[in-house]
Amino acid sequence: MCGIVGVVGNRNATDILMQGLEKLEYRGYDSAGIYVANGHKSSLVKSVGRIADLRAKIGIDVAGSTGIGHTRWATHGQATEDNAHPHTSATGRFVLVHNGVIENYLQIKEQYLAGHDLKGQTDTEIAVHLIGQFVEDGLSVLEAFKKALSIIEGSYAFALVDSEDTDTVYVAKNKSPLLIGLGDGYNMVCSDAMAMIRETSEFMEIHDKEMVILTKDSATVTDYEGNEIERGSYTAELDLSDIGKGTYPFYMLKEIDEQPTVMRKLISTYADSEGNMNIDPAIVKSVQEADRIYILAAGTSYNAGFASKTMLEKLTDTPVELGVASEWGYNMPLLSEKPMFILLSQSGETADSRQVLVKANEMGIPSLTVTNVPGSTLSREATYTILLHAGPEIAVASTKAYTAQVAALAFLAKAVGEANGKAEALDFDLVHELSLVAQSIEATLSEKDMIAEKVEKLLSTTRNAFYIGRGNDYYVAMEASLKLKEISYIQCEGFAAGELKHGTISLIEDGTPVIGLISSSELVAAHTRGNIQEVAARGAHVLTVVEEGLEREGDDIVVNKVHPFLATIGMVIPTQLIAYYASLQRGLDVDKPRNLAKAVTVE
Ligand code: G6P
Repeated sequence: MCGIVGVVGNRNATDILMQGLEKLEYRGYDSAGIYVANGHKSSLVKSVGRIADLRAKIGIDVAGSTGIGHTRWATHGQATEDNAHPHTSATGRFVLVHNGVIENYLQIKEQYLAGHDLKGQTDTEIAVHLIGQFVEDGLSVLEAFKKALSIIEGSYAFALVDSEDTDTVYVAKNKSPLLIGLGDGYNMVCSDAMAMIRETSEFMEIHDKEMVILTKDSATVTDYEGNEIERGSYTAELDLSDIGKGTYPFYMLKEIDEQPTVMRKLISTYADSEGNMNIDPAIVKSVQEADRIYILAAGTSYNAGFASKTMLEKLTDTPVELGVASEWGYNMPLLSEKPMFILLSQSGETADSRQVLVKANEMGIPSLTVTNVPGSTLSREATYTILLHAGPEIAVASTKAYTAQVAALAFLAKAVGEANGKAEALDFDLVHELSLVAQSIEATLSEKDMIAEKVEKLLSTTRNAFYIGRGNDYYVAMEASLKLKEISYIQCEGFAAGELKHGTISLIEDGTPVIGLISSSELVAAHTRGNIQEVAARGAHVLTVVEEGLEREGDDIVVNKVHPFLATIGMVIPTQLIAYYASLQRGLDVDKPRNLAKAVTVE
């Protein structure tokens, strides 16, 4: 969702901006633009559609050493060139890119911008007109920027350039992600490290309600009063090769394939050579002290919460409740006496999840963020963090982050269970069991061609489908159906197998695809098979994904048996491949599904 990149210094700004925007593509966008300046000569180029469309419009005359660029995911106004960023002030002197939502933009327009002619419908255009107006009124650029920041309410990451003095980029942030990248003779600003890693691995955080005055040799952080803030830099772990696609046709397939490696990385990170848990004792204590664990998340991470629920409850003896972050941020239900919040978030930037965290912090509730991105907003603002170490996930449809979340929570669950002296936790050889999971994933991955063939028969023409399962299989069905919907646009529901007959079975007709998930016990398997018979009798076209040991003749995909606590990881892998092939066979852009954004930084 909206990405920003900016640079000032001794480099080819056009090249840096375009490379950066390409790296931000994964976040999701529908238009893009850049502004590049060389002294007093400047160019503004915008385009609806992909970065490739923007690139096609950029001539050799678009050159300079200062620039700002943007990918826009439409919120206020449609995806048009007029609404695309960068936006300019009334006289064209100031140029601004913005990520976030300015809540009081209509009030600002009414109160300060009477008579201003606006080209589009965005809140951003109002912000840059406001800054321009304050300068017209006699303020210095810095004073005008500060005054605008004191008026603007909402979420924002801003990068502003004054075309009359292009040696400085003015930066500010509140709630939306933004980072500074430090170079030799140049400095950068960007929504995430991935867009800058080709240029630098030295970064500096910006916190909410801070400004940065960026020149080629300095990055001065201040608060909105202008008081300077000392901020050290850090070196990002990220490797340039991590963010390449290699020989893969799509990132999603690469990321699916990386899952065995991620499982092994988690073992080496969260267990020592003797198999002892290596989880921060303060986190373990905090969970031990809680009388209820609340997992808050969105999308796939929410489903990962469900996929971890049974294991967490059994190992920690603490009830686990799930909450959709966008609901809880505004509608916090009655909580237990000693709650502990776990924020699950691949990106660590999801605005909905952050809203819940802000509330939790106000209420003094201890919190843990489980995320793939060190230094992300949710990580910084929670009491504790556990990192996923999954490497960058670039495909919008999340795969390895989901399985890494379940595995990371397994380490936490075992550590807490052991600290409580619980036999089931002490007996659970997680290191061994997770290495079996890695092998099970590898076995499923070796069946790709067979799975692709079955998908072609089952899903090539359908408009709808169902996943059904019981218990943990139901939780996997939720994620499996989300994945299929996201990238193939097949309307799909994940249903509790036993619940289907209580209403939704009316949707089953001749040829409706139903994918049955069967793991767990013989009893559960028998009941789910009964539900499969019910839909088959009504004409459904059935495909089964069954755990080894429970298979019968005629089953389609058999998954190696793993420990029941980790079965949701093993069972989800074929469903990731089902979604991938369904999308691929329909000729869709697997990595960049329509309308979706990878990091949803607006509420
Ligand atoms: C977006 C993405 C989903 C993701 C969800 C939560 O909706 O499209 O793939 O699951 O955000 O993201 P998070 O980074 O918090 O896990």
